[in-house]
Amino acid sequence: MKLASRIRQVTPSMTLDIAAKAKAMKKDGLDVCSFSAGEPDFDTPRHICEAAKTAIDQGKTRYGPAAGEPALRDAIAQKLQTDNQLSYSRDNVLVTNGGKHALYNLMMAFIEPGDEVIIPSPYWVSYPEMVKLAGGTPVVVPTTVENNYKITAEQLRAAITPNTRLFVLNSPSNPTGMVYTPAEIRALAAVVVEADIWVVSDEIYEKIVYDGAEHLSIGAVGPEIFKRTITCNGFAKAYAMTGWRLGYLAAPEEIIQGTITLQSHTTSNVCTFAQYGAIAALTGPTDSIGTMLSAFTKRRLAIINMVRNIDGLSCGEPDGAFYLLVDISQVGMASEQFCKALLDEKYVATIPGVAFGAEGTIRISYATDLDTIERGMERLSGFVRSR
Ligand SMILES: Cc1ncc(COP(=O)(O)O)c(C=O)c1O
Repeated sequence: MKLASRIRQVTPSMTLDIAAKAKAMKKDGLDVCSFSAGEPDFDTPRHICEAAKTAIDQGKTRYGPAAGEPALRDAIAQKLQTDNQLSYSRDNVLVTNGGKHALYNLMMAFIEPGDEVIIPSPYWVSYPEMVKLAGGTPVVVPTTVENNYKITAEQLRAAITPNTRLFVLNSPSNPTGMVYTPAEIRALAAVVVEADIWVVSDEIYEKIVYDGAEHLSIGAVGPEIFKRTITCNGFAKAYAMTGWRLGYLAAPEEIIQGTITLQSHTTSNVCTFAQYGAIAALTGPTDSIGTMLSAFTKRRLAIINMVRNIDGLSCGEPDGAFYLLVDISQVGMASEQFCKALLDEKYVATIPGVAFGAEGTIRISYATDLDTIERGMERLSGFVRSR
C-alpha cells in the first residue's frame, strides 16, 4: 500500500510516541517516572470547567463560525492588547484546535513550494514537519550551548536567502526552556524588517518564566515588525487545558482570512462550548497560573541541581517553560538509544534530543511532582553510572 508522498516525507511525532509508551507501561502496573509529557500536571481551573458546563446547559452545542465565537475572538484581541501590547481586533484572530493546529493552518495558508522557513534548532518537533507538509523547505539553523541555544541576529541574517518567507521564533522555548531577552528580540526584529520577511512568534509558554525573565512579543517592538508578525498562542500550557484543544493565531486580516477559508473546509469551528471555557480563562481569575508557577519554580531548581550532580551529564539554566535540555554527549550513546534503554531498564521516560534536531541531548519535562523528580533523577544517575 502506497501512501501519499506528502505523508511519507513526514516523521511521526516522537514525543507523543514515547509519552504513549510510558503511559501504557504505567497502566501495566510498572512504576514509571515520566518526564516526557509536554503538559502541566495540574487540573484545569474550576471556573473554566464551570463556564464550559454552563455553555452546554445553555445549548451552546451547535456549529459556530469557522473563525471562532465572536466573544472569544474579542477576548483574545483584548488579551493581546493588555498582556502583549499588540493591537489586533476580532478580524485579526482565528480560533483553532490548539496551538499546533494554528501553526499548521498558517503554514498551509502561507507557505508555497520553494519558500524557505528558518527554524532555529533545537526546535519544537512539529515545525519542520508542518513546513514540509505545506511543501516548503525548512532551513534549520543550529544554535550553540554557549549562546543558551538562542539564534543570534547575525545567524538569522546569514540564513536569509531570496527564497526566505518566514522565521519561526519560539520563546520561551520547547525544548530548551530558554527565553530571549527584550534586547535579543529587538535585534531579531531588526533583521526581519531589514530583510522584509515574516516572523511567526509561538508564545505558548509566555506565562511560564522564572527569576524575573521578561517575555516580549516580537510584534510589539514597533510598527514595521508588527506588519510582518504572526502571533501564535494557546490555552494548553498557561491554563492546564491540553485536552481542550484550543489555540489561536493573530495576524494581518488577509492571512486570517486565508486560514479561515482553510479551516472552513477542514475542521470547521473549534468545539463551541469549549470556547466558552477559553473566554473564562481569559477573563476570569488568574491565580491558578501563580500556583502552577510557584510549583514549577521549586521543581526547576531541584532538577537542575540533581542533573548537575550526575557525573557525565550537564545542563544550562533555562528561565522559562518546564523543560530541561540535558547534554548526554559524554555518555557516548545516541539520544534515541539512550532514552529507549533508560525507559526499558529504569522505567524513566525522557525524549531523545534527535527529535528536536539536537542529537547528544535529552529533554526532561519537570511538569511532574517533586517525589517523581527525586526518584527519577536517582534512577537516571544509576543508569549513567552503569554505562
Ligand atoms: C512550542 C510549542 N508550540 C505549540 C504547541 C502546541 O500546543 P497545543 O496544540 O497543545 O495548544 C506546543 C505543545 O507542546 C509547544 O510545545
